[in-house]
Amino acid sequence: MGYQFLAVRREGPVEHVTLNRPEVRNAFNERVIAELSDWAQNAAEDEGLRVAVLAGAGKVFSAGADADWMARMADSSHQDNFEDAARAASMFRAINALPCVVIGRIHGAALGGGSGLAAVCDIVITTDTALFGFTETKLGILPAMISPFVLPKIGMSAARELFLTGMRFNAQRAREIGLVHAVVPEPSLDETVQRYVDEALSAAPTAVAAAKRLLPQVWGRRPEEVAALTATAIAEQRVSEQGQEGLRAFLEKRKPSWTP
Ligand code: COA
Repeated sequence: MGYQFLAVRREGPVEHVTLNRPEVRNAFNERVIAELSDWAQNAAEDEGLRVAVLAGAGKVFSAGADADWMARMADSSHQDNFEDAARAASMFRAINALPCVVIGRIHGAALGGGSGLAAVCDIVITTDTALFGFTETKLGILPAMISPFVLPKIGMSAARELFLTGMRFNAQRAREIGLVHAVVPEPSLDETVQRYVDEALSAAPTAVAAAKRLLPQVWGRRPEEVAALTATAIAEQRVSEQGQEGLRAFLEKRKPSWTP
């Protein structure tokens, strides 16, 4: 699929994916969603891909759902609206489930679905001046498709406050509630992203993928319920090639084979 609104740049095991619709602040419509879904599908099958960095071109990361698209959909049937929303939900699910490490590079603003996109990233780094918000209710709609991904990040209390008011909040607050992990001055954004990329590249790819599969299965369940699952996960990884290599490298005081 040729991309109109995504700029993709590959550097070895790292892919930089930039939302590229700056004239509308990287708002996403059905075309952007189709492109991101296509990218995520390819990324999921790409064994050489270890880190993806999501960013936005121009002044902001993303202004969320395209208001023109939302307004247009108001003239469509319930069935069309349902199918359209289901495609967006599927895109968020696909990015959320990627086996590689997904890093969000946020500047300017991440509003509505833009904050939703932040929520499906594993690590989010933002500038100290960026604005966040689940602003949908201010526009008469609601943060529905992103809610399964936002809730585990920010919890029910902050979600009730922020979803029900649609209020904007700053980067510091975003960090306090768990939506972002590092807040830095704008000039330090790229070097901080790079530091996280390097950290991620020092972790074993199969261990990363296994941890990402495990976390949602464990989250919210009682330890007894997941005891077999967690024991299986570690038992499989210990005897795996990378499990063996990682421990051997540590004991032999050398870097493991997956180090770039
Ligand atoms: N959908 C469609 N167009 C959007 C948009 C959106 N979500 N957000 C911004 N745009 C458009 C504006 O209409 C404007 O178009 P114009 O140049 O034809 O007038 C252009 O992008 C620039 O927007 P502007 O508000 O002037 O940019 P800014 O840099 O001053 O502010 C934001 C950027 C993101 C803070 C601001 O655009 C904003 O608050 N957008 C709405 C975000 C939102 O609530 N999203 C939730 C959607 S559910």
